[in-house]
Parts: sequence; structure tokens; C-alpha cells
Amino acid sequence: LSPYTLVIQHAAQVLTLAGGPTDRPLAGDALGNWAVIEDGYVACLGPTIVAVGRMSELTPARIGPGTRLINATGCVVMPGVVECHTHLVFGGNRASEFERKLRGESYLDILAGGGGILSTVRATRAASEAELLANALQHLEGFRRYGVTTLEAKSGYGLDRDTELRLVRVAREAGHQQPVRVVPTFLGAHVVPPEFKAAGPRAYVDFILREVLPDLKGQVAFVDVFCEEGAFPLAVARYYLEQARKMGFRLKIHAEQLHDLGGCEMAASLGALSVDHCDYLTPAAAARLGQQSQGRTVAVLLPLVPLFLRQEKFAAGREFIDAGLPVALSTDFNPGSCPSKNVWLSLSVACLKMGFTPKEAVAAVTLNAAWAIGQQRNCGSLEPGKQADVLVLRRASIAEIPYWLGENPVRDVVIGGCLC
Ligand code: NIG
Ligand code: FE
Repeated sequence: LSPYTLVIQHAAQVLTLAGGPTDRPLAGDALGNWAVIEDGYVACLGPTIVAVGRMSELTPARIGPGTRLINATGCVVMPGVVECHTHLVFGGNRASEFERKLRGESYLDILAGGGGILSTVRATRAASEAELLANALQHLEGFRRYGVTTLEAKSGYGLDRDTELRLVRVAREAGHQQPVRVVPTFLGAHVVPPEFKAAGPRAYVDFILREVLPDLKGQVAFVDVFCEEGAFPLAVARYYLEQARKMGFRLKIHAEQLHDLGGCEMAASLGALSVDHCDYLTPAAAARLGQQSQGRTVAVLLPLVPLFLRQEKFAAGREFIDAGLPVALSTDFNPGSCPSKNVWLSLSVACLKMGFTPKEAVAAVTLNAAWAIGQQRNCGSLEPGKQADVLVLRRASIAEIPYWLGENPVRDVVIGGCLC
């Protein structure tokens, strides 16, 4: 047997997230019941994890002169964070709207007046591909410092054929130019662009289905839609997702963010991989959704969004978990509703405002987040055979992770077996 290339050793706690079901995400009690190894190690061979266990079980014969050793004494070691919902690629920013919001204007009012998402669409259309790529790379570096090792990146600020294709290209290219793994999603149905204002949402999605989606086969696995007042009504969102599914795409939805329109249940009934936001999803609907999807649709909760939009209502995370619905957490990084890459803050806010336990929150940004973007075979847990995407945190126990509010706990980031 060849010597390990990398061993992270003497960890106070190794959060393996191992041993979960292989056919569905963690749900109910299992979300917070996984084992923690005290005084543990993680061993890698090249880009892959090959052993995880207690220090007393580490085979000395497999440590050679070429083995890199990382000392994690007093530290928590865990899987790399999986950011399963971001709008990575955009031009400009919305700092001026932040001030309008502080004076009392709402997110949907600003959008209805041609601002909000539409103001970022104008800035994104005006930006060059090189500028968009440079911005995306800078944001990815920020995410990497926070310990994000895989990240989903949505398009959705182009809303015309060329710009939407450009945003997908930029996301993929950004993934190739630095170590964080990027998984692109097509959100061409974010809002109706000005060019289709008169023709309406149905005409716009017909345009996407005809002119844009055929070019994205093999480039993008997921199609997403924003089902909300001022964006896409339920019937149009259903029609669009049905057609996209027929074309072979997997489905996601932004739903029940600001109103209860039934978007989450609709998308789950079509086999959506995830339903995202869910602040207005009722616990009863969440329970039905969990049953109907047989625990395969993940509710992706985004606690920094209601915080940033000055909204009282946060998703009923505790009730969702108790009802058996699999949940994940993410920032929703974007210029309008969450200009923050601090996934650790989202963990803390999930505990404080949604009733997560620290262990549940950790599972929600790792293994369940991987399920939400179809990456569960590659990442999300520390198990032999998975990608060696591993974090060393300056924290001695799980409880300390959400406790140090707003701080970045990450000391070391390993992606594919390389310390970066
Ligand atoms: O997930 N809700 C819709 N879309 C994004 C926000 C986009 C924006 O405001 O620029 C979200 O919150
Ligand atoms: Fe979003």
C-alpha cells in the first residue's frame, strides 16, 4: 500500500457526516445524530480521502517521507462547505438601494419601479465578459477563505440570450481558473426583462425554452425559476419547469420567499432537487412536501436574506426538520438580498432564528447542501472515496462554530488533497 500524501491529524473532533443513507439526504433526527470522532485523523491519497478514524487507528506504516502532515490539535476538522445557492456572476452593486431600503422601501416595490434585480441586469449587460470573470474570481477567493470548496452559481442577470449564455460561460470558466468547484445553474427565468414587459412572463419563458435552453444542454444540469409576485406566477413557473424537465434538466425553484404561492409543493411534485427560500412555506405544506417527494427534495433555507431584507419572517426550520423535510443552508450570495459570503453567519442565524442545533446546521451546509446540487457522491462528508475537500477550524467543538457570531473559523482549506 502506498503512503498517504496528506494526513490531517490529532483533531479534537472530526465531523465525518459519514454513514448516512445513500439514496436521500439526511432528514429528521438523522440530521443531527451523526457521529463525531474525538482525537481523529483524515488521510488522503492524491485528490481522494482514503481513511478517517481515531488517532489510535492510524497506520504508521502508511506515513512516509513524502506524506504531508497537518497538525489539527485543538481544532475541529470537517468537510469543505458546499454553497448550494449563489448568484455568483453579476455586474455593479446595489448599495444605493440599501439606503432606500433603510428608509422603508420594500424589495418588491424597488423591483416594480425598475430597480432591484432589473438594476443589476442593466449593470450586468453593460459589463464585459472579462470584468464579469474578474469579479467572479474575486468572489470565489472570498468564498474559499470561508472554507467553501464547492459552489453553485446561478445565471439570471442577463435575461437575454447572449448575456445569459455569457453568465454560464463565466461561471464555468471561473470554476476552471481556481480551486473551488463551481456547479452552474440556469436562472434565465429570474424576472421578466423589459423587452418582454408587454408580452408577459409566458412569452418570455417560451423564448427561453426555444432560444436559450437548447444551447445549454451539457453545460448546465439545473434550471431554476423565481416564482413570486412581480416575477413568475405559479402557472407559468409550472409550465416552464415541466418543459425544462422534458428537455432533460433537473429542477430548482425560488419559492415562498415573500408570499405563499404554492411554488415549493408544485416544484416538488415535478421532482425538483431543491426548493429554495421557503420563508413563507407553512409547516403543514412542508410536511406534505416531504412525504410527496419521499424525502428527496431538499429545502434550501437562506437565513441571511430575511435579515438583509428587514423581514420578520424566517423559514420555520425547526418545524421543517421535525416534519422530516431534508434541509440545507446557504448564503444566497447576490447583490440585492444577500451581499454576504459569510456562510458561517448564515449558520449562526439559522440557529438563532430558525431553531437549528449547531450539528444540524453543520450537516445542512455540507452533506445536505451537496444533495441539493447533486454532488453527494463527490463531497459533503469525510468518507473514503470522496474528494479530499477538508477544513481545519480554529474551534475546539461544534458548539463553538455558530457561537462566535460573524467570525470566520477557518484555518486551513484543503481542496482535492491540496492545501490552498
Ligand atoms: O435569491 N429572490 C430572487 N432572487 C435573488 C435575489 C436577486 C437580487 O435581488 O438581485 C434571491 O434572493
Ligand atoms: Fe437566490
